[in-house]
Amino acid sequence: MLSINLKGKKAFIAGIGDDQGYGWAIAKALAEAGAEIIIGTWTPILKIFTQSWSLGKFDESRQLSNGELMQYLKVYALDASFDKPEDVPQEIKDNKRYADATGYTISEVAAAVERDFGKIDILVHALANGPEVKKPLLETSRNGYLAAISSSSYSFVSLLQHFGPVMHDNSSCISLTYMASEKAVPGYGGGMSSAKAALESDTRTLAFEAGRKWGIRINTISAGPLRSRAARAIGFIDDMIEYSKANAPLIKDLKAEEVGNAAAFLCSPLGSGITGITLYVDNGMHAMGLAVDSQALHKDLCTSPC
Ligand SMILES: NC(=O)c1ccc[n+]([C@@H]2O[C@H](COP(=O)([O-])OP(=O)(O)OC[C@H]3O[C@@H](n4cnc5c(N)ncnc54)[C@H](O)[C@@H]3O)[C@@H](O)[C@H]2O)c1
Repeated sequence: MLSINLKGKKAFIAGIGDDQGYGWAIAKALAEAGAEIIIGTWTPILKIFTQSWSLGKFDESRQLSNGELMQYLKVYALDASFDKPEDVPQEIKDNKRYADATGYTISEVAAAVERDFGKIDILVHALANGPEVKKPLLETSRNGYLAAISSSSYSFVSLLQHFGPVMHDNSSCISLTYMASEKAVPGYGGGMSSAKAALESDTRTLAFEAGRKWGIRINTISAGPLRSRAARAIGFIDDMIEYSKANAPLIKDLKAEEVGNAAAFLCSPLGSGITGITLYVDNGMHAMGLAVDSQALHKDLCTSPC
């Protein structure tokens, strides 16, 4: 029987802050397939994440199909905006949410993971941040734009630079992108659409470079809308979910689990020939050139079951 078997593999997932997002869903799918999970959580929310975990707030979501609860080997504080300790500005060091934290830059976390667990097999980038995401691109400041690219795109380049040398041959990396990289999505501003376009382009270039250098595969998943914490903060996620249901080829909710399963496939030996792709897991929304629920359309354009 063909199945996904990741027993004996270690996965580092950057960008889990609760049980609502794609990072969590990917961790869970990888755990279902037998992988051991190592987590990188954004430094300012690390305490609340680990407290919630210990208090059992995620227990229901941690349930695996074999009846056990998903475990992690370790969770590290991570701020993917910084590569090395000297990059961290004083105002961040002085911020009370960073006060007790150390070793959270990408180079330090990669070194700590290697020290603690040796080489890993799977690297997942499930994070994004655009401080001006609510502003149209036309009103976005240089700082806002560069911050979006730094946290959401360069962070992947840097993670790969630092984790690449501590990954086994035939390892696999995944990031998450969004359709706004290639089609205008009003409301997804602040340079976030540009950041996702960079992430997708980098997926191809890094697939070549990391493939030749380390034999590592690099892919990105273009996911449909999910009511994660980050998406709720942007402010129009419910509309995007409605829009997708009204216009995508598949009229159903998109479950985070579907993205998790696609990631597990890509990271598994079943995906061994796949690198450099953007895989759409969006109920087919990317394939549409018309909004079939548009009031401008004649009703007969849209045959049943529209
Ligand atoms: N939710 C959606 O509709 C949707 C659609 C397509 C793609 N995505 C992508 O999925 C990925 C995961 O996002 P999500 O929507 O599941 O939300 P999420 O809130 O679960 O995940 C985003 C995570 O990024 C972390 N983060 C932000 N800045 C960081 C930094 N500097 N260093 C380390 N971590 C940082 C946050 O703490 C959070 O845990 C993102 O790349 C997002 O763009 C989301």
